[in-house]
Parts: sequence; structure tokens; C-alpha cells
Amino acid sequence: MSPPDDLLSPDAIRDPQGFFRQLRETDPVFWSKRHKVWILTGYEDVERLFQNRSLSTAQGIGTFRSRMMAEHAQLLKHAMSLLDGWMLFNDPPVHTRLRDPVRRSFSPAMVDRLVPRIERHVTTLLDSLQDSQAIDLVSRFAQPLTAMVICDLLGLDLSEREFLRSWARDFGKLIYGASSRDPNYLSSVARAGDQFHERFQRTIAEKRASPGEDLLSRLLTASTDEQWTESELIGACSMLLFAGHDTTSALLGSGVRNLLLNPASVTELKVDPSLMPGAVEELLRFDSPSKTFIRVPVTPMQVGGHDIAAGQHLWLGILAADHDPAVFADPERLDIHRSPNPHIAFGAGIHFCLGSALARAEARAAFTSLFERFPKLRLTDHEPRWSPTIVDRSLLELPVLLN
Ligand code: HEM
Repeated sequence: MSPPDDLLSPDAIRDPQGFFRQLRETDPVFWSKRHKVWILTGYEDVERLFQNRSLSTAQGIGTFRSRMMAEHAQLLKHAMSLLDGWMLFNDPPVHTRLRDPVRRSFSPAMVDRLVPRIERHVTTLLDSLQDSQAIDLVSRFAQPLTAMVICDLLGLDLSEREFLRSWARDFGKLIYGASSRDPNYLSSVARAGDQFHERFQRTIAEKRASPGEDLLSRLLTASTDEQWTESELIGACSMLLFAGHDTTSALLGSGVRNLLLNPASVTELKVDPSLMPGAVEELLRFDSPSKTFIRVPVTPMQVGGHDIAAGQHLWLGILAADHDPAVFADPERLDIHRSPNPHIAFGAGIHFCLGSALARAEARAAFTSLFERFPKLRLTDHEPRWSPTIVDRSLLELPVLLN
């Protein structure tokens, strides 16, 4: 009997690790008749293909983009133009031209400088929860924290954070496409595109007039060599915001849940805080915030004994690779001491995540202070609700009791 192959089925959304395990045991290079893509679930293949520079990400979105522009060019003008600045959806040499200025500007020193502010934001948010009992940790802590940190990173006023959060939610419908299952998704995406464009045109003019130490101010200078257009600059801001927001808040939400399901680990972390960096790596592995990313071969290739035609889509299963028993002993067990832990939650190769240091810093600060401040923190008996998309592994809500 062939395994279920619908990555959007309720079972696969609830337990993607189990879903991927069945595919891997059948064939780690699996042709999904339903999605008409190859789903790759073995660590070795997934890691190697991320490193393969001849695979395209631009073609992964190309057909979708042409179709959207053919059907809704006017409506989605600004939304689609934001994607011009997304290095993730471009191949070299355009990818290199878009990535280099961000890589040069988003230095480890910049992340170090942000750490005290991250800690202050964590404290402010936890203070605001002090007198509450039952809360949703995603909307009251994980999402506001990531939005505040992105504001700091880009040098935006903290009052922008509500806009950024709702923008990320609406624009996400374009990235997750029809799988967002929202019948009105085109109008939300169009509005999100128009608003972002208008707002960041203004912000960029203000930064040019009075630059600061933030990433956006630096990008204005760093991108002159690469001759970025204004549209690419606005698009790059939208990429940083989007890439940094949902993923990091997903890690915070699922990370807290996984720690609460393993109370012995929480006790160990309290006794020995030096275990926190390793714990964050294990939480990244265990519920990697990105389930799959697309790559497209531009010439025919062979993987795992299968002939893959040029243009066919490969879904590289990050979460699947991070649970491959060939690399991770007892992969379904959360082990904060796991070493080595070569997870690929941040990808690999030329598109390797540029925000990994920031995400790690945020997670360490958030987990440490949350468990210190609320030692009785616990889960309620609500069934977890996970985002129903192919790409992300994130909790829609995390109801907890604080005291
Ligand atoms: C836990 C948090 C995060 C996770 C799990 C994550 C994961 C990833 C992954 C898997 C990729 C590679 C995608 C591919 O190869 O197709 C990526 C790329 C990227 N990420 Fe992150 N990310 C996180 C946080 C952030 C943050 C905080 C930022 C910045 C504020 C950021 C910025 C980027 C950028 C700019 C890229 C594109 C790199 C390129 O195409 O060259 N990410 N991320």
C-alpha cells in the first residue's frame, strides 16, 4: 500500500514528522501524485541538494509569478514587486547581488548590539503578563517579541510593530498561496503589498535624510555598489521582515511547548544555564520552523535512482532530514544534550539563513527569562493547532497557564 502523500491533510499538519517517516521508509525520494512534486526526506539527499548550486529557486516561484501577473497584474503590482528584492527567490548572479549587501551589513557585531535590547523587550513583555493567568503565548509573547526585534533591526519605531505583524500575516498568504485556504487571499495580499510599498518608500526617504546605526541605514550605503533599485530595497526590507518574523515566533512557540512536555529538561536548564545554547539547537531540530523548501533542476538529474526531469519541483524536507535516524539517534526524543547536532533548520549552501545568529539570540533570551519568571508555567489540555501550510511548522496559538 502506498503511504498517504497529502502534506496538507490534517494528519500531516498535526504530525509532519510521522508523515515524513512513512515517506522515507517507502522511498526517501518520493513522487507525490497529489502535489506532482518529488518529496525528499533523507538527510544526506536534502543537505546535498541544498548545497547544489545548479538547482534553481527562481524557477520554483517563476511559474506561479507569471500566472499571477497574467491574471492580476494591476491588483498585485506592488505585492509582486516586493518579491523583486527577495534574494531567496533569485539565482546567482542576481542572488549574489541581493545577498552581499545584506550579508556585509547584518554583521555578528550588529546582532551583539541588539542583545541588550532583546532582553529589555523580553522583560517588558513578561512584565505585562505578570497579573495574567491563562494566556495565548503566541499572540502575547512570541509574535510581539519577534516584531519588536525586527523593528530594532531595521531601525523602525516600535509603534510600527502592529503593522508589521498584520502585514506578515497577510503577505504570508502570497507565499503560502492557495494552501493558506483563505478565499479572500488575493485582496489581503494586494492591500499588504500596497501598504508596505507606500510605508517603506517614506521610511527609506527618512533614513536617507537621517541615517542611524540600523540595518536599513547600512543597506542604503552597502547596496550602492550593487546598484539596487528602490523597488529592490523595499523588497529586501519585506524579505527580512517576513523571513525573520514567522520563523522565529514559530521557534519560540513550539520551543516552549516542547520544553513543557519535557519538564526534566526545564529543570536542568534552570540548574545549568550554560545548557541553553545546545537546547535551542535541539528545539530547532525537533520542530524545525520550515518544513520544506523548493528547488528546481534546470537540467535532468538523477537522485536516489530516480530520473528527475528539468523543471520538476523538489521539495527538500528540512523537518524530515532533521528526523532522519541515519543521522540523529532516537530522533523523536528531545535531547538537549544532543551532540553533534548537525540540523539544517537554517538551510545550507548559498541561501543559508542570514538571520540565524539573531534568531538564536532571541530564543535564548526568551526561554531563559520566561521559565525564570514563571516557574509554574504549564500547558492547558487544548489540542495544539498548527499552521495548515506546506512550508511552515508553527503553532497558531499556545494556550498556557502562567501561575
Ligand atoms: C528560527 C528562525 C529562523 C529559521 C528557522 C530560518 C530558516 C531559514 C531557512 C531554512 C532559509 C533557507 C531557505 C532556502 O534555502 O530555500 C532561510 C533563509 C533566509 N533567512 Fe532565515 N530563518 C530564521 C530567522 C531569520 C531571521 C531572524 C532573519 C532576518 C531578520 C532571516 C533572514 C533570512 C534571509 C534573508 C534568508 C535568505 C537567504 C538567501 O536566500 O540567500 N531568517 N532562513
